[in-house]
Amino acid sequence: MSSPRLRVLPHLLLALFLTFAGTYQASAQDAQAVSKEGVTPGATDGAAPATGGGDAAAISAGDALFKGNCAQCHAVNDKVVGPALAGVEKRRPISWLIPWVKNSSKVVASGDAYAVKLFNEYQKQQMPSFALTDKEITSIFAYVKSAEGGTKQAETPGGVTTENSPKADEGGAAKYVDILLIVLVVVLIVLVVTLVIIGNLMRDVLRGRKDLNGRDVEVLEQRTDWSKIYRSPVLRGIVGTVFALVLLYEGVQQVMAVGLTQGYQPTQPIAFSHKLHAGEHQINCAYCHTSVYKSKSANIPSANICMNCHSQIKTESPEIKKIYRAIERKQPVQWVRIHNLPDLAYFNHSQHTQVGGLECQTCHGPIEKMDVVYQYSALTMGWCINCHRETPLNTKGNGYYDALVKLHDSKNAGAPFTVSSNGGTECSKCHY
Ligand code: HEC
Ligand code: HEC
Ligand code: HEC
Ligand code: HEC
Ligand code: HEC
Ligand code: HEC
Repeated sequence: MSSPRLRVLPHLLLALFLTFAGTYQASAQDAQAVSKEGVTPGATDGAAPATGGGDAAAISAGDALFKGNCAQCHAVNDKVVGPALAGVEKRRPISWLIPWVKNSSKVVASGDAYAVKLFNEYQKQQMPSFALTDKEITSIFAYVKSAEGGTKQAETPGGVTTENSPKADEGGAAKYVDILLIVLVVVLIVLVVTLVIIGNLMRDVLRGRKDLNGRDVEVLEQRTDWSKIYRSPVLRGIVGTVFALVLLYEGVQQVMAVGLTQGYQPTQPIAFSHKLHAGEHQINCAYCHTSVYKSKSANIPSANICMNCHSQIKTESPEIKKIYRAIERKQPVQWVRIHNLPDLAYFNHSQHTQVGGLECQTCHGPIEKMDVVYQYSALTMGWCINCHRETPLNTKGNGYYDALVKLHDSKNAGAPFTVSSNGGTECSKCHY
C-alpha cells in the first residue's frame, strides 16, 4: 500500500534540494549585484520622501560642501565638536544662519542671545568663518534637511548613525530580496507537492482500472533504478575528474601561498575604522601616520593623536573609553601589526611616498573604504621587482639624473627610464 508513495520520496527530496540550491545561488548573486551597484532602487525610494520636494541639485551640492567644510565638526544627527545640525532651521531662521556660517564670532560679538548661549555651552570654541555664498550656505542646509529623514532610517540599534543612507537602503533592498525568495521557495514547494499528489492520484486511478494496455503497465511499473545510475562509468568519470581538478587547484593554491599573508585582516583591540576617519571625515593619512613622508617607517599613531579629537568626540562610546583606559594605565594600545616584511628586506616609505610620489593606495589598496584594514598587496619580492621594472622614474628637474638619462636613452632608444634602469632591481638595494 505504502510503496508508491515511498518511491516518490527521493524525487521529492531531490526536487526540494535543487529548488533550494537554485534559490540560494540566485540570492547570493542578487546580494553581489546589490553591493556592486551600491545604489539600489531602494535607495532612491528611501531618500525621496525625506527630500520634502527640495531641489536635488542643491542637495547634492550641499552634501559636497558639508563634507568638505563642516563634517570634521558637525554630523547631522549627532553632536560631534559642534551641535547636531538636524532641525537647525527650526531653531534659527536662514537669515540668522547665513551670517553665522560666514562669521560666527561676529554674531557672538554682536551680543545675539542665542549665539552667546550656544558659544558658552560649547566651551567658547569658535567655529571658523567660511567664505561661502548665500546660495552655497542655503544648499548646505537643504542637504542637512534631506539627511535628517534619511539618517533616522539609517540609525542602527547600537545608536551609531551614518550620514549616508546607502547602507541602510542596501539592507532594505536585501530584506526585500529575502522576502521574495522565501515566497518563491514556498510557491515551488507547493507546486512540487501538488504535482506529486496529482501523479499519485493518476496512478491510483490507473491501478483501479481493469483494461490496462502495455504503456499503462509500463508507467505503473516505472521506477528509477538508482543503483544503475551510481554504477554508470560516465558519471563516475565526470565526478572523479571534477574532484581531481578541484584537489589539484587547491593544492597549487596552498603551495603558492606558503609564507604569504596577503589578505591578512586581524581583529584590532579598538574598532577603529579608516572608512570613517580617512574616508567619510577625510582626515589626511599623515595626520596620524606622521612619519610616512619623512622616514623609513610609517608610524602607528599614539593615543595622544586620538585625543586631539576624542577628548571631545564620542566620549561616551565604549570603544573610545578603551583609549582613555590605555592612557590611564600609561600603556600603548596593543594594535595588531598587519604588514610585516622579513628582516632581510629593506623598504623605505619616504623613498616611495615623498621621492617616488606614489599614492598610499597603490600599495595598500582602498584603505579609505576599509572598516578593518587588511593586507592588500602580496609584499613578495616579485611584487617589488615588477613595479620597479614598470614604473618610470621621475627625473625631471633633477640635475643628478641628467647624465644618467642621456646615457640610458643613447643605449635603449625609446625605452622609459624606470626604477630598475636606475639600479632598483639590484639585490643590494633591498637586501642588507
Ligand atoms: C572646527 C569646527 C567647526 C566647523 C568646521 C564648523 N562648525 Fe559649525 N559649530 C561649531 C561649534 C563649536 C558650534 C557651537 C557654537 C560655538 O561654539 O561657536 C557650531 C555651531 C553651528 C551652528 C549652530 C547650531 C545650532 O544648534 O544652533 C550651525 C548652524 C553651524 N555650526 C553650521 C556649520 C556649517 C554649515 C559649517 C560648514 C560650512 C560648520 N558649521 C563648520 C564648530 C564647527
Ligand atoms: C585617525 C588616524 C588615522 C588616519 C587618518 C589614518 N590611519 Fe591608518 N592606521 C591608524 C591606526 C590607529 C592603525 C592601527 C589599527 C588598524 O590597523 O586599523 C592604522 C593602520 C594602518 C595600516 C596598517 C598598518 C599595519 O599594521 O601594517 C595602514 C596600511 C594604514 N593605516 C594606512 C593608512 C592610509 C593609507 C591612510 C589614509 C588614506 C590612513 N592610514 C589614515 C590610524 C589612522
Ligand atoms: C581629527 C579628528 C579625529 C582623530 C584624530 C581621531 N578620530 Fe576617531 N572619530 C572622529 C570622528 C569625527 C568620529 C565620528 C563620530 C561620529 O560618528 O559621530 C570618530 C569616531 C571614532 C570611533 C567610533 C566611535 C563610536 O562608538 O561610534 C572610534 C572607535 C574612533 N573614532 C577611534 C579613534 C582612534 C583609536 C583614534 C586614534 C588612532 C581616533 N579615533 C582619532 C574623529 C577623529
Ligand atoms: C611602494 C609601496 C607602498 C606605498 C606607496 C606605501 N606603503 Fe605603507 N607599507 C608598504 C610596505 C611594503 C610595508 C611593510 C613595511 C615593513 O614591514 O617594513 C608598509 C607598511 C605600512 C604601515 C605599517 C607600519 C610600517 O611602517 O611598517 C603603515 C601604517 C603604512 N604602511 C602606511 C602607509 C601610508 C599612510 C602610505 C601613504 C602615505 C603608505 N603606507 C604608502 C608599502 C607601501
Ligand atoms: C608601486 C610601485 C612600487 C612598489 C610595489 C615597490 N616600489 Fe620600490 N620604488 C618605486 C619607485 C617609483 C621608486 C623610485 C623612487 C625615486 O627615487 O624616485 C622606488 C625605489 C626603491 C628603492 C630605491 C632604489 C634606488 O635606486 O635607490 C628601494 C630600495 C625600493 N624601492 C625598495 C622596494 C621594496 C623592498 C619593495 C617591496 C617591498 C618595493 N620597493 C616596492 C616603486 C615601487
Ligand atoms: C626591490 C627590492 C628587492 C630586490 C631588488 C631584490 N629583492 Fe630579494 N626580496 C625582497 C623582498 C621584499 C623579500 C621578502 C619577500 C617575502 O617575504 O616573500 C625578498 C626575499 C629574498 C630572499 C628570501 C626568500 C625567502 O623565501 O626567504 C632571497 C634569497 C632573495 N630575496 C634574494 C635576492 C637576490 C639574489 C636578489 C638580486 C638578484 C634580490 N633578492 C633582489 C626584495 C628585493
